Amino acid sequence: MTSNSFYSFNLILVTFLAFATATAQVAANEYDPENGEAINEVCAGCHGEFGQGGSDGEYPRLAGMPAAFIARQLHLFRDRKRPNMAMIEYVDERQMPDADIQDIATFLSRITLKTKLSPANESDPAFDAYARLLESKQVMQIPRAEGDQERGGKLFRKECDSCHGKLGEGDHTKAVPMLTGQYTDYLWRQVEKYRNTIRIHDPDAPEDQLLSEFSDTELQDIFAYLSVLDD
Ligand code: HEC
Ligand code: HEC
Repeated sequence: MTSNSFYSFNLILVTFLAFATATAQVAANEYDPENGEAINEVCAGCHGEFGQGGSDGEYPRLAGMPAAFIARQLHLFRDRKRPNMAMIEYVDERQMPDADIQDIATFLSRITLKTKLSPANESDPAFDAYARLLESKQVMQIPRAEGDQERGGKLFRKECDSCHGKLGEGDHTKAVPMLTGQYTDYLWRQVEKYRNTIRIHDPDAPEDQLLSEFSDTELQDIFAYLSVLDD
């Protein structure tokens, strides 16, 4: 190969690779971030503009949740398989076609929230109170839950982390939610729903009543452990 033809061969290869990558991206994922952002304006009324949740877990945190999990819950709400009175008017077929579910799920899953505010000096003349307020809304700090963190950690590693992830971050390849950074009160409300079969914990084994096999004290210890994982 002469050096000239070597270069033109490389050029063709590079062009081909760029083309192949672009096509693959469009085919695998037609995510429309602008649509995701527009839908989020509706969700923000309750879940916060950064998906941070609020009112001590009345509204769960959605930011950073695996997209597959968010999408699955929206389908369950829409099909009335998971009751959610608060969201009923936002999730019918007309309001929430499948493409919208995908866009909002991806949009929310890509928001990362810090778990600590950066240090600031309020008496500094350069201190910007508005910027500080905005920053504080993008921080997710769960108050420490009562319980034996050490015992909870052991239980979590034995019984929960195979699905929910080593750090309780959820599983982005499956519809398994993040538990770290979620409000403790919210997690408790969901435990009650699983125990009363209003929700199904493991779609692959719907008969399994995993959370009924644990005492309240054991779950309290697990939630105490999760509440400090993000410190
Ligand atoms: C009027 C208030 C309200 C609005 C608006 C709202 N939600 Fe919710 N959402 C809730 C409440 C309340 C819950 C908790 C229900 C429960 O306790 O099971 C919830 C739960 C969820 C969950 C389940 C999370 C989990 O970890 O189990 C998802 C996902 C969700 N909402 C997504 C959305 C999206 C996306 C939008 C915008 C299209 C939205 N919500 C708009 C009130 C609202
Ligand atoms: C076999 C896998 C698996 C194991 C093990 C597991 N989970 Fe889950 N968990 C899931 C899946 C999947 C979901 C979502 C189910 C749904 O769609 O409602 C979930 C949901 C939850 C939720 C609701 C969170 C939310 O945002 O709605 C809580 C709370 C929870 N799990 C606690 C636990 C605890 C505590 C343990 C250990 C004792 C545990 N899980 C073990 C798979 C698992």
